[in-house]
Amino acid sequence: MPVEIIRPLYFILPIFFTNMAAHRFGGGTPVDFGRYFYDGKRIFGDGKTYSGLVGGIVIGTLVSMLQPCIYPTLYNDLASSFIFGLIISSGAVFGDTVKSFFKRRLGIERGNPFPIVDQSDFVWGALLFYYLLGPLLLPDFFALPVEWLAVILIVSPFIHFVGNILAYRLKLKEVWW
Ligand code: CTP
Ligand code: MG
Repeated sequence: MPVEIIRPLYFILPIFFTNMAAHRFGGGTPVDFGRYFYDGKRIFGDGKTYSGLVGGIVIGTLVSMLQPCIYPTLYNDLASSFIFGLIISSGAVFGDTVKSFFKRRLGIERGNPFPIVDQSDFVWGALLFYYLLGPLLLPDFFALPVEWLAVILIVSPFIHFVGNILAYRLKLKEVWW
């Protein structure tokens, strides 16, 4: 794979761990505390829990802090790799939670597929937080080249998709989507 594809994907790598950790550590109290929205449907549903949010953010941030030990990326010192990891992991779980809000409004039951959106929510959530919070919190904020954005937005959903099928085949996940 050419380095132009690997570098942006390595940059965004922590959010894949955020997703896995949310799944692995999730369960328990739902974010919406079981409450219903005006339309009579759940606000987010039982698939969004506090342990998933916290587990996802903690693991994603740790991965971001470990990355520079393996190979340099854009934020390599301890403080900025921590802040960067926190920003994109929070963005990833935010995107996932907002996605569930809209799934419920559209009448899609918790756990049922919403193609393309299910595979990309964490990516646009992370990028949104990166561009909103990065300039404020990262001393050496770096605006991504448009090619990087394209690679991240286009390739990540495929990785998510293939990763989910693998996790399903390995019996780590109940559904293949
Ligand atoms: N999970 C969690 N908390 C989160 C995110 C995920 O507990 N914030 C766990 C839940 O057990 C969830 C599983 O990870 O069922 C898979 O996550 P996801 O596919 O995002 O949730 P779904 O169950 O498919 O729910 P939805 O239809 O709302 O996307
Ligand atoms: Mg799902």
